[in-house]
Amino acid sequence: MKKKSIYQPIGIFDSGFGGLTVLKEIVKELPQYDYLYLGDNARAPYGFRSFETVYDYTLECLKHLFDKGCGLVILACNTASAKALRTIQQKDLPLLFKNKRVLGVIRPTTEIIGNYTRTGNVGVLGTSGTISSNSYVVEIKRFFPKINVFQQACPMWVPLIENNEFKSQGADFFIKKNISELLNQEPSIDAIILGCTHYPLIEDKIKSYLPDRVQLLSQGKIVANGLKDYLIRHPEIEIECSKNKTLSFFTTDLTKTFDDSASLFYGESISSNHLHL
Ligand code: DGL
Repeated sequence: MKKKSIYQPIGIFDSGFGGLTVLKEIVKELPQYDYLYLGDNARAPYGFRSFETVYDYTLECLKHLFDKGCGLVILACNTASAKALRTIQQKDLPLLFKNKRVLGVIRPTTEIIGNYTRTGNVGVLGTSGTISSNSYVVEIKRFFPKINVFQQACPMWVPLIENNEFKSQGADFFIKKNISELLNQEPSIDAIILGCTHYPLIEDKIKSYLPDRVQLLSQGKIVANGLKDYLIRHPEIEIECSKNKTLSFFTTDLTKTFDDSASLFYGESISSNHLHL
């Protein structure tokens, strides 16, 4: 099939910086496409906000991404995937944006969790919003009805990471506390999903408080492989994605603040543009 020349990047959305950990892995796996990242830093974190608010914010940002030419958008944010994705896919897209596609990060992770546990007891760590939505429990049960899912909200982790305090002793206190709370629910948990795209930054610290037998699943690579699969299964969408290897970054807050912190998440320096909401 013939390549189109219109700029139609793949959109990657997060409340702030976390989605950059996913974008990094997607670009490694699928370098040929154009990507447009949007972080809603002006209103982050989303983790403690209501369903209605996360839905409204996410939909508003999606409209901006569609306006900028994105035909396919990944919600690289568990909180938005948990609280807004279903309504957007079922209600908004069919009504208002028939040709647009929006995917989340929860499904690709839950589809494969069964390969990582022997005891059948798995843990999920996430923001209060993701955990209270129960999305992981529902999705895992759909694919693996026999697996028991234990969840733990970690409300302090994103603020510690966003404020660049994740290497401090204060961060250790909260990481240790939440890990113990999870393992106290079921000591034989042997696989844990990092259900927030910010958490890869503290992966080593989390590991240091876990017994060696526990496998930790970080979403970046899993979502990148999921997207690769999706594009193979949907050639009609793949053909629409432009392929000039460009990357652009937008933030709803100050670009300088975004650029200063973004490299921590993306691993390279970034120069962003401002998106006025
Ligand atoms: N990184 C996001 C997630 O995966 C959300 C962080 C937040 O805004 O609270 O859930």
